This record gives sequence, structure tokens and C-alpha cells, in this order.
Amino acid sequence: MKFGLRLKLALPMVILWIGLFAGFEYYWLPSFLQENITRYTTEQEQKVHLLLNGLVESGLRDDLANIYSTLNLVLKEHEDWLILTLRDTDKNLLYPLDQPPEIDKEPLIRISHEHKYSGTTLFFVDLVTDPWKIFQEQDKLISELHWLFLTMLFVALTGSMLLEGRLVCLPIQELARAAKRVSDRDFNARLPTARNDEVGELIISFALMRSDIQLYQDEILQARDEALKATRVKSEFLANMSHELRTPLNAILGYSELIEDDLFEQNSTKHLPDIQKIQCAGNHLLSLINDILDLSKIEAGKMELQVCTFSLQELINEVTATIQPLAEKNGDTLKVNVSHEVNIVNTDKTKLRQVLFNLLSNACKFTSQGLIQISVNASSLGQTDCFIISIHDTGIGIPQDKIASLFDAFTQVDSAYNRKYQGTGLGLALSRKLSQLMGGDITVTSQVNSGSTFTLTLPSNLAKQQAA
Ligand SMILES: Nc1ncnc2c1ncn2[C@@H]1O[C@H](COP(=O)(O)OP(=O)(O)OP(=O)(O)O)[C@@H](O)[C@H]1O
Ligand SMILES: [Mg+2]
Repeated sequence: MKFGLRLKLALPMVILWIGLFAGFEYYWLPSFLQENITRYTTEQEQKVHLLLNGLVESGLRDDLANIYSTLNLVLKEHEDWLILTLRDTDKNLLYPLDQPPEIDKEPLIRISHEHKYSGTTLFFVDLVTDPWKIFQEQDKLISELHWLFLTMLFVALTGSMLLEGRLVCLPIQELARAAKRVSDRDFNARLPTARNDEVGELIISFALMRSDIQLYQDEILQARDEALKATRVKSEFLANMSHELRTPLNAILGYSELIEDDLFEQNSTKHLPDIQKIQCAGNHLLSLINDILDLSKIEAGKMELQVCTFSLQELINEVTATIQPLAEKNGDTLKVNVSHEVNIVNTDKTKLRQVLFNLLSNACKFTSQGLIQISVNASSLGQTDCFIISIHDTGIGIPQDKIASLFDAFTQVDSAYNRKYQGTGLGLALSRKLSQLMGGDITVTSQVNSGSTFTLTLPSNLAKQQAA
């Protein structure tokens, strides 16, 4: 349950009211009642005293008839006097004639008085009164006060809640709605009128903040558009350049192969090593240009997937066969373990081959006299069936602080000045982009001097996933 601001603001008032009511009920009211009873009792005592003063003369004269008629009259005049008894000095009953019965009624007030005249006791009087009239009046007053309290509470609560709603809650609710619309990038929501109070200050600050956010957003959008445009231009330039470079390079490679063949035919081996060096450098350049072209294509969103169904086991065999000479060159042992749960997969075979080749050539390059293990397993990511290819090597490893930037293009762990290993730092960037294009990703864990594990996760059925 939402404990709204209005209720929270009304709470102190309710607590104050409960405090006041408790004070009234348990402190003021009992002392007020007690005071009333005391006053009433004193009044009755004074009345009895006056009455007996008036009877002194008759008492001295033993005029019992007068005493009787006077007391009878007085008793009739006082509705609250229930029993009045008068006795002489010997405690003989003078009024009434017979001993009246005891009244068992609560609350009754009993007044006993010994009346003296010139130092001698003349009468003993006992009066039992029923102060119902006072209690009646008091009850009426108390219930009126209770109603007054309740009405006060109701009026104060309703008034304060209405006022709080108008001055605090409604503007804050409107502000919250406007803030929500700002988070949806709508800066045109109506703001509540700002009064000259704290809520007004909040509204003005919000309006200023909103216009600042709008300004920043416009700037960010503009910067993003410019950056996107620049990337597009860069990608287009790289794509064009790579294309333009590839044509003459293919010609150079083609002609160098022709020259190599001619030299073989003429049995002239003198220039063969030079020609082979040209071919090697040309091939390296060609693969570099191809990588750049691929990266630019992906960035420009022009890389297309050729999804087909094939045997993963066969592809792994094919790639390991290609990479075997590289592993042998560095004295590395290649081990392959393909789980029987994975066989036929549906994805882009060429791009998967390219990714595997990049990862495996890295493993061979950065491992010497070590072990390179390829394991293929089935897995699932949420509802999607996946296969996981992990390539573990016991090579030089990667420092933890370099791992975050490992997949950025042209990033290598060893610096350009003391580079020991060849390469351009494009392989991992391209491999990650390709695997993301195929709906998966590459992650890495590594420890310096212990080795690295690159894990490639891809959906087993890309066509199905694309359709979904
Ligand atoms: N298996 C590995 N063991 C240790 N370091 C690695 C491994 N794989 C990658 N690296 C580090 O990551 C860097 C980037 O790798 P990446 O494949 O992108 O570039 P490269 O191999 O240097 O060049 P190329 O573009 O020819 O692949 C490497 O230079 C190397 O420092
Ligand atoms: Mg590489």
C-alpha cells in the first residue's frame, strides 16, 4: 500500500489530536468531575446549616410540629434530597416519624452534621442526596465536548488534506509526471504553476534542469550524428581504399606466382627466395586489407551473413588441419575434444571458420612448447540452444588490465617499441564483431605466464533465431 504524502502530513495532526483528547479524557475531565462533586457537597452542607439555623428556635421550644412541617416542605423543594433525618441530642428521631429505609443507589452523597447552639449540641442531621442532576448536566457537557473534538478533528483533517493536496501533493504529482516524460525524452509536459514557497522553488529548479537536459541532449544528438557521419565516411573510405588496394595487390601476387613458375621452369633458383618473400609480404598485406575491409563493412552495416547448415565436427577438423603447421612451428600440441551433443549447426560457416582461425592462430602465436586445447560443448542461453567453443592455451597469458581493451581494433598487449610478435591487432576485434553478428560473443579469461582461454558462444540455429 502506498502511504501517500497527504496521509504522512496528516499524521502529526492526528497524533496531536490523540494527545489532546487523552489529556482531556484522563486529566481534565476527572478533575472537573471531582470539582463539581466537591462544590455540590459544599452547597448542600451550607443549605443544611442554614436550614438548621432556622430550626434552632423551634428546637429550643420543642415545637416539633413546626420542625416537622418545615423539613417536609424543604424536602419537597429539593428533588435531589432523598433522605433527611433529624435527631435530638439523645439521638431520638425527630424527623421523620419512622426510620426511613436505606437506599442502595450509587452514587449518593451523604452529609452528616452536628448542629450546635451556644456551644451545646442541638441536633444531629443526616442527609442523603442524589446528585443526578449534576451528572446529567455533566454527561450532556461531556458528550457535547466529545462531538466538538470529533468535529474539530474532521474539519482540521479535511481542511489540511485539501490544502496539502492543492499546495503540495498535486504539484509534486504533476512534477513526477513531467519527470517521467523527460525520461521518455518528451520535454513539453506542462509544469504546475510555481507559487512563492518551497514547492515553487522545486518547480523552478526542475524547469531549469529540464531545459539544461534538453540542451545537453540536443548537443549529444548532434555530436552523435556527427560521429556517425564521420564513422560512415571513414568506413566508406576504408572500404574503397581496401578495394582499390586489393586489385593491384592481387595483380602483384598473381605476377609473382607467374615469375616463380617461370623461374622453376628455367631452373633458375637464384631469385626464388626474393620472389617468395614478395609473395609472403603480399599475402600478409592482403589478409590485413581483408580484415580492414571486413571491419569497415561490419561498421557500415553492410556485412551480410551466409547462413547454412553444416557439421561442426568437420569444420573443426578442417581448421585444426590448417592450423597444425603453425602449432608445430612453435612446438605446440593441439588437442581437440568435440562433445557428441554437438554436431550439425546452422550459422555462417565462412565467418565461423575465420573466427576460429583467428583465435587458434593467436593461441599458436603466443604459446611456445605448450598445449592448445579446443573443446566444443552444447549449452543454452535462456531459450536459445547454443554451442560453445573454448580455445585454451598454456602461453604467455594476458595481464588483467589489458583484457578490457583486448577486443578494440589495433590493440596489442606488447607495446610497439618492444614488439616480439607480429600482427596488427585486428584479429580479435574482427572476431568479436563477426561472432556478435552471428548472435553470439567471445569472452576471455587469462593469467600471465599460465595461459588464456577464449570462449566463443554462438546460437546453434541462427536461421531460427533470426526468424524469431
Ligand atoms: N592467446 C593469446 N595469448 C596471449 N595474448 C593474446 C592471445 N590472443 C590475443 N592476445 C593478445 O591480444 C592482442 C590482440 O590480438 P589480435 O588477434 O587482435 O591481434 P594480433 O594477433 O596482434 O594481430 P592480428 O591482427 O594479426 O591478429 C595480441 O597482440 C596479444 O597481445
Ligand atoms: Mg591475431
